[in-house]
Amino acid sequence: MAKENADRAERLRRTLANYAYRYYVLNDPQISDEAYDSLFRELEQLEEAYPDLVTVDSPTQRAGAPPAEGFEKVEHPLPMLSLGNATTPEELYAWRERMLRLLPEGTALNYVVEPKIDGLTVVLHYVDGLFVLGATRGDGLFGEDITANLRTIRTLPLRIPLQERGPAAPARLIVRGEAYINKAEFVRFQRQQEELTSKRYVNPRNTAAGALRNLDPAVTAARPLDLWAYRIVLFEGEGAPEGQSHALAYLADMGFPVAVDQTKLFSDFDEVVSYCEQWADHKDGLSYEVDGLVIKVNNFGLQERLGYAGKDPRWAVAYKYPSAEATTKLLDITVEVGRTGVLTPRAVLEPIHIGGVTVSSASLHNADHIADNDFRIGDTVVIKRAGEVIPQVLRPVLELRTGDETPWSMPERCPVCDTAVVRYPGEVAYYCENAACPAQLVRRVEFFVSRAAMDIAGFGSKQAELFVKEGYIEDIADIYDLPKHRDRLLAQEGYGEKKVDNLFAALQSSKQQPASRVLTGLGIHFVGGIVAELLLEHYHSFSSLAGANVNELAAIDGIGPRIAESVSVWFAQEANQRTVARLAQAGLQLSLVPKVSEGVQPLQAKVFVITGTLPAWSREQAAAVIKEHGGKVTGSVSSKTDYLLAGERAGAKLAKAEKLGVPVLTEQALRELLGLSAALDSLG
Ligand code: IVH
Repeated sequence: MAKENADRAERLRRTLANYAYRYYVLNDPQISDEAYDSLFRELEQLEEAYPDLVTVDSPTQRAGAPPAEGFEKVEHPLPMLSLGNATTPEELYAWRERMLRLLPEGTALNYVVEPKIDGLTVVLHYVDGLFVLGATRGDGLFGEDITANLRTIRTLPLRIPLQERGPAAPARLIVRGEAYINKAEFVRFQRQQEELTSKRYVNPRNTAAGALRNLDPAVTAARPLDLWAYRIVLFEGEGAPEGQSHALAYLADMGFPVAVDQTKLFSDFDEVVSYCEQWADHKDGLSYEVDGLVIKVNNFGLQERLGYAGKDPRWAVAYKYPSAEATTKLLDITVEVGRTGVLTPRAVLEPIHIGGVTVSSASLHNADHIADNDFRIGDTVVIKRAGEVIPQVLRPVLELRTGDETPWSMPERCPVCDTAVVRYPGEVAYYCENAACPAQLVRRVEFFVSRAAMDIAGFGSKQAELFVKEGYIEDIADIYDLPKHRDRLLAQEGYGEKKVDNLFAALQSSKQQPASRVLTGLGIHFVGGIVAELLLEHYHSFSSLAGANVNELAAIDGIGPRIAESVSVWFAQEANQRTVARLAQAGLQLSLVPKVSEGVQPLQAKVFVITGTLPAWSREQAAAVIKEHGGKVTGSVSSKTDYLLAGERAGAKLAKAEKLGVPVLTEQALRELLGLSAALDSLG
């Protein structure tokens, strides 16, 4: 049995690593997300039951490390050098001349040309195929040990080779690469963060740098970091690659992400130069940011012969493009309203072609940014699109001021609903506090039904937009009145009976979501999942929370004055109070402690463990139901467990419960026991 479990765990680890590689590195998924998750859960359960089976290369260990106090210093095995630059064809030819002078006459050179990725250098150590250490570049001689953070990068192989066939890993391998955030992921992340925290993430590179050096790997894991590997720093073992193109192919074979599509081998230097010149137009189309190309002599023997000059290798050069800057007119500054009511000023620009795209508007971030730079409407402004995904408005050209420019200030009232705008002390952002502000509505609905909050299947941005547009939803609470519009909804394109019924069933079952999710879903500034739980642990219900004053709130451990202020302002709004009352009426869980039915509760002090996939409830929902009826939920099965609530694909916990003689319940059995209606309640 022990051997069987160990074998199964090993197979699961390998299989999951391969699926993740197909998905993240090759963009060629082999199985559905659900099937992947199911295998992942099986491994988690096995490891939970047999902790000895946990290995450092297990995919379950990517984000498991606790926050660190600081980073240890790591000495690099060789200095991590930098690169010299060239910006013109002449400089490229001069670089080649310098090399040829140092080599015997007639030496033929081949060149590998690669994208120069705009990220952060990372140095990855593998011993017998296992990822054991990862460091930043630091000063080139010493870096910092950021192993736990690097583990969270899903494209970084924790063990090589990924495939069992092919050559085995060398005894020691040290790889240099670049950690970065891809453009689309950055934009998505930036939007999401703006909503949640009003914190600004200016560009992918700085965001990646912050993520890599965060002391808490859980924060790093939440950043969309990615990796390109581009150099073998050290190789101990048989079959070392002999040149750069071979090394890249080797790294790709081992399972590293390598930008092979964008890499070219040349023997003719004129071709290298014209490729460099042409490539400028091409780079904006890539999914990641590059600030040029790197040209390397292919042959490692020749690289060694050429050696280094100062901190730069003689055998490589970076061809850099000047960053695209241009001037245009700032026609107007408008204000956009986000989900949490954050007001973001936007520049309306005279359209201008820059760095391959036409730019006609750009974020101005916040009022301070405008004041600090003294942007005025009518100014000629410098805008930049370097590697940047998003064009940046850099500064006004003061020399061109005529005196007709108008200074700007944040409007005192919301441009959409005319509610007075508020600014919290110490915050840069201004807010519209009106929960019913129509501009916020679609985004609020989107958030309420999202995975982070009520997790209503079949309800996303498209639905939110439609339902608001059609007037079905004017307030969050209207979401639960959607069944009233059944007939009109059925008349909409793409809304068949089945789809509509599924949606309504999902709405109905979301009513079982715990109160903390409802509170999160309301989108009160600074109240995310963790704060919501904290607040409810303290106040137990929405009604007592609503009655709390700022000082009481701020006295709670973990609740700062900003959160306290925001919560009390929110609950003081009449419109918000109405929303909460209607949600209560719809049957949502608005208290942590169940409304105590008379006498002893049915599950008084009974200890439950939940495992597997339940037919209708999520595990969290099931736990809420159990707690509501007086029971307790713990994580592992022991002789103290009273019941195991088991769904499909229950693994180790079920086996253990059976062994210990712990009674096993299905979701249906528990519903019957508690006198609850069957799953997928019929809708009245
Ligand atoms: S080779 C001795 N290749 O550019 C080898 N570097 O400006 C030197 N970089 O610190 C590095 N993409 O972080 C190399 N394909 C690539 C690269 C690359 C990005 C970065 C690297 C280095 C910086 C030098």
